[in-house]
Amino acid sequence: MKHPSPARRPRVLLVDDNAALADNLRTILEDAGFAVVTAGSCAEAQSRARAGFDVALVDLGLPDGNGTELAQQLKEGAPDSEVVLLTGHATMESALDAVRAGACAYLQKPVNTPELLMTLETAMRQVRLHLEKRELARRAAMAEKLAAVGTMTAGLSHEIRNPLNAAALQLTVLERRVGRLPAAEQGPLLQPLHLVRDEIRRLDHILEDFLQFARPREFYPKPVELPPVLDRVLTLLGGPADKRHVRVTRDFAVVPPVAGDVERLQQVVMNLGLNALDAVREGGWIRVSCRVSDDPEVVEILIDDSGPGVPAEIRERIFEPFFTTKAEGSGLGLPIVHAIVTQHGGTITVEEAPEGGARFALRVPRAR
Ligand SMILES: Nc1ncnc2c1ncn2[C@@H]1O[C@H](COP(=O)(O)OP(=O)(O)OP(=O)(O)O)[C@@H](O)[C@H]1O
Ligand SMILES: [Mg+2]
Repeated sequence: MKHPSPARRPRVLLVDDNAALADNLRTILEDAGFAVVTAGSCAEAQSRARAGFDVALVDLGLPDGNGTELAQQLKEGAPDSEVVLLTGHATMESALDAVRAGACAYLQKPVNTPELLMTLETAMRQVRLHLEKRELARRAAMAEKLAAVGTMTAGLSHEIRNPLNAAALQLTVLERRVGRLPAAEQGPLLQPLHLVRDEIRRLDHILEDFLQFARPREFYPKPVELPPVLDRVLTLLGGPADKRHVRVTRDFAVVPPVAGDVERLQQVVMNLGLNALDAVREGGWIRVSCRVSDDPEVVEILIDDSGPGVPAEIRERIFEPFFTTKAEGSGLGLPIVHAIVTQHGGTITVEEAPEGGARFALRVPRAR
């Protein structure tokens, strides 16, 4: 049996107190490409389930309890997973019990291999549907939030920008006047003026970010060669990275052009690069790579770093507007990245880099 995503094998939790049978089933399932964990009792199953599973295969008669109850508990703990019950003899009653317990199917012992594999494949299809549904709901919630942020900030940014421009203009006047003073008097006056100028520039930058949401520019995708875009980002990152003794490396495979907007793709990779730079320690590294994905129509851009990675408990939240763990952060970097990637018909995921740090993976369709 072949599974579409080689990234992770489907995980089966096999609960049966008959060790010989469990061993036999394990061999069959492993040969078919499943990752199998076994448990001989309800208590052991509960504890194994905490590590996560896709489908639990549960025997009805267990030494410390009843498989139907266990099925119910497993399903409650992992609503996106599925349970298949194993019964000694299939009766109408046991079928009903299985359904009541939330099991998606039941199998009669002795288990026949093709039937077992087919049942598990159907259960896995259900599991994938649950995950897709959850992902769609997450995206819808995100889109809603972004739209709300957009409407609110459109007006606000506009209102702030006018007085800010006026202040910047007055600052220029002041700087000129100070410039006419004797050199010895200029220093102590110019320093605070420059600080104000920097702060105004920072505010302007934040407003620019806000406006990205408020009125996303029209999008006319063109074929974009990725290596030059990535190289430009690497050059821009080089300066700040050198200062912190962070090594920035590249690993580009030959990839077809993608359909997109050069500037926006550059902004995406730059935001991810800056985040990586914030995350790594002095002496760490950042790697930008591109390659054709498993799906030949899709190109992957990976930004890996040697930082601590993104903790599991905040992974769901980092794409939300204003979510930040940094004292100076606006929390808009990743929402902007997300908005641009979505506009490109692509996806972004956060994973663990092979070396343990963070991996941000962009997947963008190739140009046609
Ligand atoms: N490479 C990374 N490694 C670890 N954590 C990361 C990484 N990239 C992002 N994060 C986490 O995601 C959060 C949100 O990132 P985002 O870019 O949206 O905002 P920010 O970097 O905090 O602020 P801003 O980008 O506006 O300066 C960060 O505060 C950080 O906790
Ligand atoms: Mg950021």
